[in-house]
Amino acid sequence: MASKMRKTLIAGNWKMHNTAKESVDLASSVKNGVRPGYAGQVMMAPSFTSLHQVAAALKGSDILLAAQDMSWEDKGAFTGAVAPGQIKDAGCTHVLIGHSERRSIFGESDQVINKKLAAALRHGLVPVLCVGETLAERESQKTYRVLETQVSGALAGRKAEELSTLIIAYEPVWAIGTGKNATPDQAQDAHIFIRKLAGRLYSPALADGMRILYGGSVKADNVDEIMAQPDVDGALVGGASLKADGFLRIIHFQEVITK
Ligand code: 13P
Repeated sequence: MASKMRKTLIAGNWKMHNTAKESVDLASSVKNGVRPGYAGQVMMAPSFTSLHQVAAALKGSDILLAAQDMSWEDKGAFTGAVAPGQIKDAGCTHVLIGHSERRSIFGESDQVINKKLAAALRHGLVPVLCVGETLAERESQKTYRVLETQVSGALAGRKAEELSTLIIAYEPVWAIGTGKNATPDQAQDAHIFIRKLAGRLYSPALADGMRILYGGSVKADNVDEIMAQPDVDGALVGGASLKADGFLRIIHFQEVITK
């Protein structure tokens, strides 16, 4: 299976960093540094408070804007929550759903993630569904079981025709923010498992076209070998997306083909 029939996507998840001004500066530097003719896609996910201004700064570029999370409700008395329509209004076309920090720190269950994913699709937002096992789960040979539960839980009730845009990010929890990335083989192995699962749940065509990103300590010095894996279609980058130079090196990973 030729991996690069799927357009590569390099995404930065800025997590809870940056004021609006810092966000605009970073977004502008990345925008100015992407080589003309870049054949992949680039995306950034700033904090809610920076979305409007980053959207304005990215105008005229092909860089995509994502929110890091959203509510499953459309509007109402949900103090502190941000609605799908609000992130769209701020310029987002994509949204991260079920990041491991949402799961582990904020207690989001597969049921909650299922509702958020459905809401994203209902609003025409592209969901980037994040899944991944903890170290204890990997060490007790539960990786596949966890991935299967998370993917099928998030997608329960969805039909294949709704999922043509779906992106999945495999982010092993033990690799996030630890400096200890999955080996290229470990990433490839998990991605193949997820792709085959999508094929079983839906269709081989959906599975073949679906992009699967790897996340967890992606850096300038390991991106090339990770992106060289046939089933790794992109990267979801945390810490290393916060500095324009480093993120630009990741964006221009070795495999990228220019138009
Ligand atoms: P790091 O790249 O900092 O490990 O974070 C990965 C991540 O959680 C991206 O969503």
